[in-house]
Amino acid sequence: MSLGIDLGTSELKTVLMDRHGTVRGQASVRIATSCPQAGWSEQAPHDWWAACIQALAQLRASWPQEFEQIACIGLSGQMHGSVLLDSDDAVIRPAILWNDARADAEAAALAIDFPAYAEVTGSLPMAGLTAPKLLWLQQHEPAAFAAIACVLSPKDYLRLRLTGIKLTDISDAAGTLWLDIASRAWFPPMLAACGLRLEHMPPLAEGDAATGTVLASVADKLGLPANVVVAGGGGDNPVSAVGIGAVNGGDSFISLGTSAAIVSVTESPMGNPAGGVHSFCHALPGRWYAMGAILSGASCLRWATGVLGLPDEAALLQVVEAGLPLDAAIAPSAPLFLPYLSGERTPHNDPQVRGAFLQLGHDSNTAQLGYAVLEGVAFALRDAMAAVTSTGAVVPHCMLVGGGARSQYWAQLLANVLGREMRTLHNSELSASLGAAKLGFAAIGDTRLLATGLPVKNTFFPDAAQSAALSIRYGRYRSLFPAVQALHQLSEG
Ligand code: XUL
Repeated sequence: MSLGIDLGTSELKTVLMDRHGTVRGQASVRIATSCPQAGWSEQAPHDWWAACIQALAQLRASWPQEFEQIACIGLSGQMHGSVLLDSDDAVIRPAILWNDARADAEAAALAIDFPAYAEVTGSLPMAGLTAPKLLWLQQHEPAAFAAIACVLSPKDYLRLRLTGIKLTDISDAAGTLWLDIASRAWFPPMLAACGLRLEHMPPLAEGDAATGTVLASVADKLGLPANVVVAGGGGDNPVSAVGIGAVNGGDSFISLGTSAAIVSVTESPMGNPAGGVHSFCHALPGRWYAMGAILSGASCLRWATGVLGLPDEAALLQVVEAGLPLDAAIAPSAPLFLPYLSGERTPHNDPQVRGAFLQLGHDSNTAQLGYAVLEGVAFALRDAMAAVTSTGAVVPHCMLVGGGARSQYWAQLLANVLGREMRTLHNSELSASLGAAKLGFAAIGDTRLLATGLPVKNTFFPDAAQSAALSIRYGRYRSLFPAVQALHQLSEG
């Protein structure tokens, strides 16, 4: 058995996978996020470890025989979080997460002071990525900054607790902005720009490499067999890619979770930092990916559900489906939604911009507002897809993963808006933990599952009859960005 652990933002998910790729058990534990100030987002690494212990106890209780056969572990995790350790490996302060906007000014300063670095690191400095956060700490919490002996990415804290080893994998390292993505090695000039040195960075390993074994004391406590091997693992987007078999150039997918992303795998680094694209290292050697990252994905639907007073997302989707069937053209004048509830990365790189509903009238109803939210996220993904393909990466069709993939209506709307075939997959809500489990097997020499995907559940083809109406609406959507950006600049002034 391989144990896949995905440390998400809202939940830690685990799966037990056998050598045929079959899921034999699964357990999840929710994780709380704290928001000490508007735009801030933090979690305590100790809570991640507590969630991990709890999930493993659940797995052990429900599937004792399979649990006893665990030979390897793969780790996946939310990217760009900063775990700060002192010289005793103690956590200095809560981790600042990927969706935290506090380091906006520091990101802008890095971009101005070191314009050439983005080509090396694969992305413009953006507030959510790790490097600007460390610059923020240096300036705002000098005592905490001075105590730093090592910076880890979130899932690497679980590795530290499991194995006692401080190490990160290359795909998560790319998300810090301190990596030279072409040579897959730390990039000291960017470290220096943040007041850090190579000594602050853990050693690097590829995602499919063995990085150590679980400590005997920890194995005893968790009930794990002796000598369980822990693989390098990776950031949740690249590990999800492994989970669904997106491992070769041109394989592409959309992840519709709290955030959203459109990802295209490439066989060499292909970037366009100025376009707001992240060109990062894949969790497998010799592979990269170009990604457009959207800060609010399925979380927009959750937000709208609450604001419109419906019990859950399924209820809102039902109202939308009944009110606005997708085979009827949508009026250009129907409500529009800009999904920038927590700012935006690709292509705008503006963590302060906020969302909007437009074209409202007395006749605007719940169905139209719900539709506008789904369509607004799809339009944001169309912007992101244009940025991704501007690098030369291709998006021939997309697999769809994440909680948003549960809605067939949204999948069809995405196919119509992006003009691409969308494929939903069985078990795709587990893609990151499945990918982690596969990397676990690879680390003990069994690479057979790496190229396998997940069975297709449904395929959604673009409906050409809707493309004219959607293009008009997309044009309007695009034209509105400067207005909302100007608004927040006014409010800052
Ligand atoms: C990717 C990103 C998010 C997090 C969420 O750049 O910030 O997808 O990895 O888990």
